[in-house]
Amino acid sequence: MAILITGGCGYIGSHTCIELLKAGQDIVVLDNYYNAKPEALRRVQELAGKEFPFYECDIRDADGLRRIFAAHKIDAVIHFAGLKAVGESVQKPLEYYDNNVGGTVTLCQVMAEMGCKRIVFSSSATVYGMNNPSPLQEDMPTGAVTNPYGRTKYVIEEILKDVCVSDPDWTVVLLRYFNPIGAHESGRIGEDPNGIPNNLMPYISQVAIGRLPRLSIFGDDYDTPDGTGVRDYIHVVDLAVGHVKAVDFALKHTGAEVFNLGTGTGYSVLDLVKAFQDANGVEVPYTIAPRRAGDIATCYSDPSKAERLLGWKAAHDVVDMCRDSWRWQSQNPQGYGD
Ligand code: NAD
Ligand code: UFG
Repeated sequence: MAILITGGCGYIGSHTCIELLKAGQDIVVLDNYYNAKPEALRRVQELAGKEFPFYECDIRDADGLRRIFAAHKIDAVIHFAGLKAVGESVQKPLEYYDNNVGGTVTLCQVMAEMGCKRIVFSSSATVYGMNNPSPLQEDMPTGAVTNPYGRTKYVIEEILKDVCVSDPDWTVVLLRYFNPIGAHESGRIGEDPNGIPNNLMPYISQVAIGRLPRLSIFGDDYDTPDGTGVRDYIHVVDLAVGHVKAVDFALKHTGAEVFNLGTGTGYSVLDLVKAFQDANGVEVPYTIAPRRAGDIATCYSDPSKAERLLGWKAAHDVVDMCRDSWRWQSQNPQGYGD
């Protein structure tokens, strides 16, 4: 019995591999290295003190997937593999629909053919769109998304729910992540974005280490306590533990279930900058810039359903998140290197 992790070399996948191994699960990992480096997996094995099978494989390659399912008894799949850059998705929508939607359809077809009908999927708070008030709850309407990346998440959620309706043997767990930041407390694995980061925490860390001159804060005139955008930042290790709980749930239930994975607390951009400076004793110079297209003022979760049904609750606070992000960045100024 093993869990297949697609995209297991990436930021969230690598942390989840460690937590699954810690919980005693056997894992099989696949990744096409589009946005990851072999060094990440090497460090996961080093931290876990365990080896596990890895396949360099694309989720759109049905024969490659069949070979993996034929070689291992896979009980459930945690499906992280996908493209995730919002801005890039506007420039390259077909790549996003092909990789994220097409790849998920191929994966599910092979799963059904090979007799594995349990999937935990990486969705996103982005599916709640622009119109719902926070705290966001799982039964609020979804789909009013503003970019192709977000639409792939919405469409995949709908496809997976349809699959459950068509065949009662399927189990689908849709996990809507809020804003994952932080890194493993060892400082050995973390987020290693290509090029200039789009997301706030990697940008802050790269300013603090001197790779970038200053942070631009996108708007200080939102309807929030200090005018800057408010988000629900969640430690990536808490998110990883959420997947261990979600797999346990998937192994015991059928049908489709949706869970928010967040802390339930919102922090503004200025709150996070200050928390990072205070936690780490470093300066993060910033300027106020115009709003970024597509951003909303406030987005945070109601995480009570996950606590109720999965027995999961975030355990790390914002100081832990800032400290662990900085430990990873300062010990690995160039990420995993070339
Ligand atoms: P990541 O880019 O670090 O990890 C994704 C991994 O998937 C990478 O290792 C990449 O090489 C691999 N991959 C991409 N396309 C593939 C394909 N066709 N076949 C095989 N492997 C492929 O991203 P992450 O931050 O770890 O995110 C994991 C998942 O969570 C993604 O689906 C992402 O959309 C979703 N998500 C992330 C966030 C976030 O802020 N990080 C928020 C919400 C949802
Ligand atoms: N921000 C800045 N400067 C930056 C980067 C971000 O001020 O250089 C601000 C944004 O305007 C926003 C906040 O910091 O107010 C957070 O921005 P991020 O880009 O880190 O995160 P988002 O909330 O925009 O989006 C993230 C992921 C999406 C995902 C979404 C919801 O990038 O993929 O969370 O889960 F869909």
